[in-house]
Amino acid sequence: MRNDLTEILYTEQQIAEMVAKLGEQITRDYKGKDLLVIAVLKGSNIFLADLIRKIDMPIEIDFIAVSSYGKSTKSSGVVKIIKDLDYSIEGKNVLIIEDIIDSGLTLHYLMDNFMTRNPESLEVCTLLDKPEKRVVDTKVKYSGFNIPDVFIVGYGLDYAEKYRNLPYVGVLDPKVYS
Ligand code: IMP
Ligand code: MG
Repeated sequence: MRNDLTEILYTEQQIAEMVAKLGEQITRDYKGKDLLVIAVLKGSNIFLADLIRKIDMPIEIDFIAVSSYGKSTKSSGVVKIIKDLDYSIEGKNVLIIEDIIDSGLTLHYLMDNFMTRNPESLEVCTLLDKPEKRVVDTKVKYSGFNIPDVFIVGYGLDYAEKYRNLPYVGVLDPKVYS
């Protein structure tokens, strides 16, 4: 383990097992329907790549990029769309893919925004969730791991744009950001 991490929370193997489980659930639930998967950049990029290969049916993919923490580890509550979707979601079964839900502010904003575009259905899949940090209530249908209030990095998650390429999820040593 790197010396700027205090703990490995989930290994590559544990993540792969959870991703496969989520993929199976999604395949079962959407069988026979169309499905548009929307990844929230940049954090969910790696999760998306692994998850869609565990979804055993034809799907479409689109991306949206929103502003996040910058160099801080706390959500500002201000959400800005940096890159919008390429296509209309009207009449589509939409599944939002998130890396992690913390305060829920990002997701809450996105869901409100997407609902105005009249999708047929709108659900959320997140790999990681910090339920005790929730500020706004958000309906999450597919959720991988519940984690405590610690700042984590790896498997797509960053601190100041670094650590995204770690193949596991680890707890960042607070000395790095304090
Ligand atoms: P929320 O709006 O507070 O729910 O924050 C959601 C976004 O904050 C996620 O998509 C991540 O980009 C980022 N985030 C939240 N917690 C962490 C963490 O522990 N490590 C890295 N990024 C995080
Ligand atoms: Mg993110």
